[in-house]
Amino acid sequence: MDTENILEIIKRSDKNRGAIIAILEEIQATYTYLPEAALRLVAEETGHSLTDIYGVATFYKAFSLKPRGKHCISVCLGTACHVRGAQAIVDEFKYELKIAPGGTTPDNEISLETVNCLGACALGPTVVADGHYFPHVTKGEVREIIARTKEEMEKINTETDDRIFRLPLSCPLCKASLMDPDHPLDGHPSVRIDVSANGRKNPLRLSSLYGSGAVAMEDPVPLNQVSPLFCPHCDEELPSFSICPECGSPMAALLVRAGCAWEICTRRGCRGHLLNLNQINLS
Ligand code: FES
Repeated sequence: MDTENILEIIKRSDKNRGAIIAILEEIQATYTYLPEAALRLVAEETGHSLTDIYGVATFYKAFSLKPRGKHCISVCLGTACHVRGAQAIVDEFKYELKIAPGGTTPDNEISLETVNCLGACALGPTVVADGHYFPHVTKGEVREIIARTKEEMEKINTETDDRIFRLPLSCPLCKASLMDPDHPLDGHPSVRIDVSANGRKNPLRLSSLYGSGAVAMEDPVPLNQVSPLFCPHCDEELPSFSICPECGSPMAALLVRAGCAWEICTRRGCRGHLLNLNQINLS
């Protein structure tokens, strides 16, 4: 571990509790996990107790105290997925990767973990690999998921990959359509919302293809900044029902249809997103 590098990361922060999360994120991005020596250094330099720092590091699922692989596969073992046979999916991943949940392959390529709910219960058994959802997973698909994960999701062809599907979205508050055919992304109408950053609101366009991750901004938001998102029609802030499973920032909800939302992380650069098929309540 490079002590100077950690000190540099801490120096760039203002040392409050919110900044602790940003410090730990940067350390984890550098080392793929949070080394114990780094946590001790963060405690010493910020004036927080080591217990406080451990509390933050262990509260958020996105942080790991053990080295992680280049890719992360999470298998949901929540009730809805469990009754649909998720344990057999976990066993198949264990067999194929030769590691137990919580472990990383010896070549540091893939970490395997289990989670309690991914917010897509109707799609169970659900698996998420590097932020991409695989619905209704069967044992026979496990080997292919591993291969695709190693190939890296960014190389997926949005035209031919059947995990990429289009979502027509609207504002969950005023119900106006957010689709913008005049500014296509990935060859389809984009999703137009506003982002509040740099002291004003600016248009932010997202690909309407679930799983794509393509965005376009007229005035780029600084990386890692958490910014509220707004409906361009009613000008209200998009509601938040969840915390991002990747980084712990608030997620903003866009309406797919009654009671069903596409939630996206409000932190610039985080790819955290989920399809929430549970009934969302706006009252
Ligand atoms: S129980 Fe698996 S996604 Fe909710």
